[in-house]
Amino acid sequence: MKILAIESSCDETACAVVEDGVNVLSNIVATQIAEHRLYGGVVPEIASRRHAESIYQVVQSALDAAGCGLEGIDAIAVTYAPGLIGALLVGISFAKGLALSTGKPLIPVHHIAGHIAANYISHPELKPPYLCLVVSGGHSHIVEVLDHTRYHVVGRTHDDAAGECFDKVARTLGYEYPGGKFIDEAAKKGNPDAYKFPHPKVDGCEYDFSFSGLKTAVINLVHNAVQKGQDIVREDAAASFQRTVCEILVGKTVKAAKDLGYKTIGLAGGVSANSGVRNALQEACDRQGWKLYMPELKYCGDNAAMIGCQGYFDYLAGKRADQSLNGIATLSLEKISV
Ligand code: KG4
Ligand code: ZN
Repeated sequence: MKILAIESSCDETACAVVEDGVNVLSNIVATQIAEHRLYGGVVPEIASRRHAESIYQVVQSALDAAGCGLEGIDAIAVTYAPGLIGALLVGISFAKGLALSTGKPLIPVHHIAGHIAANYISHPELKPPYLCLVVSGGHSHIVEVLDHTRYHVVGRTHDDAAGECFDKVARTLGYEYPGGKFIDEAAKKGNPDAYKFPHPKVDGCEYDFSFSGLKTAVINLVHNAVQKGQDIVREDAAASFQRTVCEILVGKTVKAAKDLGYKTIGLAGGVSANSGVRNALQEACDRQGWKLYMPELKYCGDNAAMIGCQGYFDYLAGKRADQSLNGIATLSLEKISV
C-alpha cells in the first residue's frame, strides 16, 4: 500500500511516498530555516506563506522521485496536530484537495506519533510495547507506546521543551537559530566539567521535566561574565550544558523504564539527532542490558516519511478524516489513542 504523506506543522514543507509503512520511496523536505533565522525563530505568518508557495512543487517532486503518479497512490496522510495553525492548514487543505479530487482515503496523523514512528522506518523489527523518550522543539515526553496507535504519556515538561532549551542556550552563546546542532558540534570540542549547572527540581510526577531553570543558569553565567569583563569558553559552556541535559533526560527515562518494567526503549524528535543524547542513552541502555532504538539522522527532524509510516498504522487502525478535517494547535497523544 502506497501512502502520499504531507507534513507542514512548523517550518519544513515535506512530502513523502511510503510503501507499507516502512519502505520510503521518496522523502522531500523544503526547509525555511534560512529565512526564519533572520528573526531568531520561526515566524508563523512567514511559515504559512512559504508552505503555500512550495507545497505544490514539494508534492510533485515526491511523486516524481517515487516514480509514480497520483494514480499509483492508495491513500493521503497529513499532519493535522499539533503545530502552528496557519502552517498546518496549508498541508491539510492540500491533502483534502488531493483526497477529494482523487477519491482516495484521507488519514489524519499526529505529529508526535509521526516522530515516534520514524523508528519503525529505521528498525522495522521494532514492535510496541516500549518506552519512548520524545524530545523535539515543542515537546518533551516520556511515552509508553502501547501499540502502533495508542500511547500513555508518563512524563512531560512543565515549561520549555528540550529543543527549545537547546535553541535558547545556543542563542545566548551566540549561535544561529536553530542552535541545537551548533551546541552539539561545540560540545564535542568543549570540557563538560568546566561549568556546573543545576538539575532542576520538578514538583509532581518524578518523570516530568523542567528546562527553564537550566536555561536561566546558562544565561546568568554568560551575563555575569559579561558584567565582569570575563570570557566564557563557549565550547565548554555548550559541553557542560549538553551533559546536564543528557543526565536529566537519561536519568528520568531510565527511572521510568525501571519502574514500569520496560526493557525496550525508543528515542524520537528533533533532539534525537543530538550525539550526546544518543550516546548517553545508548550507554545507559547497554549498562541495563536493554535494547535502544533511535531513528537514522535523516528521520530525526521534521519529515513526511515519518507521517507516511504512522499514517499506515493509523489506516490499519481505521482512522480516516473527511473534508471537515481541521488543524489543531495543541493535542495530547492520549487524546488520539483509541
Ligand atoms: O522535531 P523537530 O524537527 O521540530 C519540532 O517538532 O519541534 O525538532 C526541532 C528541534 C530544534 O529545537 C533543534 O534545535 C533541535 O530539534 N535539534 C537538535 C539537534 N538537531 C536538531 N538539538 C540538539 N542537537 C542536535 N543535533
Ligand atoms: Zn517535529
